[in-house]
Amino acid sequence: MKKILLGIAIVGTLATVYNNTFAKMDHSSGHGHSHNTSFNQNSSVKEFQKPLLLPPILKGEVKNGVRTFDLNVTKGKWEFIDGNLTETYGYNGPILGPVLSLKKGEKTNINITNNLSEETTVHWHGGILSQDVDGVHNADIQPDQSKNVEFILNQPAATLWFHPHPMHKTASQVYKGLAGLIYLEDEVSEKLNIPKTYGVDDFPIVIQDKKLTTDGQLTYSTTHMEKIHGKSGGYLMINGIISPFVEVPNGLVRLRVVNGSNATNYDIDLNGEQFYQIGSDGGLLNTPISMKKLTLAPGERGEILVNSKKLNQKSYLYVNGKEALELRKNKKSGLTTIPKTLVEIPEVTKNLSNLKTRTFTLKTTSKGNTINNTPYNMDKLNFDVQKGTQEIWEVKNGSKMMDMPHPFHVHGAQFRIIERNGKIPPLNEQGWKDTVNLNAGDDVKILITYTTDGITVYHCHILEHEEDGMMGQFQINN
Ligand code: C2O
Ligand code: CU
Ligand code: CU
Repeated sequence: MKKILLGIAIVGTLATVYNNTFAKMDHSSGHGHSHNTSFNQNSSVKEFQKPLLLPPILKGEVKNGVRTFDLNVTKGKWEFIDGNLTETYGYNGPILGPVLSLKKGEKTNINITNNLSEETTVHWHGGILSQDVDGVHNADIQPDQSKNVEFILNQPAATLWFHPHPMHKTASQVYKGLAGLIYLEDEVSEKLNIPKTYGVDDFPIVIQDKKLTTDGQLTYSTTHMEKIHGKSGGYLMINGIISPFVEVPNGLVRLRVVNGSNATNYDIDLNGEQFYQIGSDGGLLNTPISMKKLTLAPGERGEILVNSKKLNQKSYLYVNGKEALELRKNKKSGLTTIPKTLVEIPEVTKNLSNLKTRTFTLKTTSKGNTINNTPYNMDKLNFDVQKGTQEIWEVKNGSKMMDMPHPFHVHGAQFRIIERNGKIPPLNEQGWKDTVNLNAGDDVKILITYTTDGITVYHCHILEHEEDGMMGQFQINN
């Protein structure tokens, strides 16, 4: 019955498709906007009526000094479109996952149970972790099986995230909803006078775009064009909700923004209002950086401070020019002072000339996606390095003709960008990073130190590119 009603609604409102679909980002059809690949939001979604979903923040249970969590990977149903249930995946719930609140240096134990009917793994994106817990190699958890993972995050406070990483199923499982956050805190972040009350002045903001089939499902499949351009377009959503609103205090609001999409770059802004970026992938920045637009590629995070005093009673966070989240001021007053400084990040040493440089060229051609012209081979190491070594990686986007960005991500490390196209990177890219966006023709140099053990992967975080072969692996020898 529901399906029939929905079908009628779609037919009746084709004319208004452009207003609300994310057609601008839709590369799936050769001629840009397309009525048949995008879904209509107007018919069934009342904009800015639903509150922002706030995933539960879990502190875990401390047993013998170990902070323990249960993570159940489950199937669920989620109402993206009013009156229509979509089959989804989620951690501990129908969609996305909880926020795991962790402390630097503390032993963390996570008991993962797979309640899907296919294998999965859990990867801690941004965590400086070794092969045995990284969630890529020998990490498959079969249906109805559990796996216990124990690790310590010995790295600065940051907003990290976790998502599945099984061979050939990463893209589809993330698309179906699997993505959770880690709020890693340390002594420095706890002392800073910045918003940190979850759900009051500190909000997780996971941005994604997903296509729904005509019967409202998230069936994951990729056309040849989507293998080239990535799975992009459809509905724009924040924390799994299309066009939500959030109540914010009058004052500073901290948004921990995660690009959790498979393949879409997001330009995030406040319609010209200024805001401050305070954190990048792997931690807080030296000082807040004043900006008017933040661009995040898939996998990247950016923490921003918005001063709602300067905004209207109702304002919007825009994503690629579209109103994505309504910021609605409530009666509470928030913090007002932007701190002058945040954390100390070591300066990138001047003397880099004696370091070895390795080159990685990411290329999309009609034949497929590669790094250094080689597709990923699970059974082959691309190189090996000695633990403790520091190197310069020169990463290039070699897809000059295709105009495709490639967000380059390395596991098990946080790196620094030392050069972007021959120049010092912009201020907001001078902190800790684990993913760096490369537009067509870009050439970026990063400084990386290996401190973990075992086989580590690097790949394009356009998940369709990763699965098609834009990935490599190296061994860190002890
Ligand atoms: Cu966020 Cu290898 O991934
Ligand atoms: Cu990762
Ligand atoms: Cu790519």
